[in-house]
Amino acid sequence: MSSVVIKSTENGPNLVIVDGKVVQAWCRCGASTMKPYCDGSHKKNGFTAEARDVKVA
Ligand code: FES
Repeated sequence: MSSVVIKSTENGPNLVIVDGKVVQAWCRCGASTMKPYCDGSHKKNGFTAEARDVKVA
């Protein structure tokens, strides 16, 4: 069975990590033009948020 972790990065996107590899980055600042994916806009808009990991499976 695969290991799946959602890692909320400090001041950045939610990373989807499967078996230790980042497979997607989801926007959580709301500014991405490629939603649901992060396009790096969080670096320019002053988004701040705490880091957190959630193990899904
Ligand atoms: S978190 Fe990166 S663009 Fe929103």
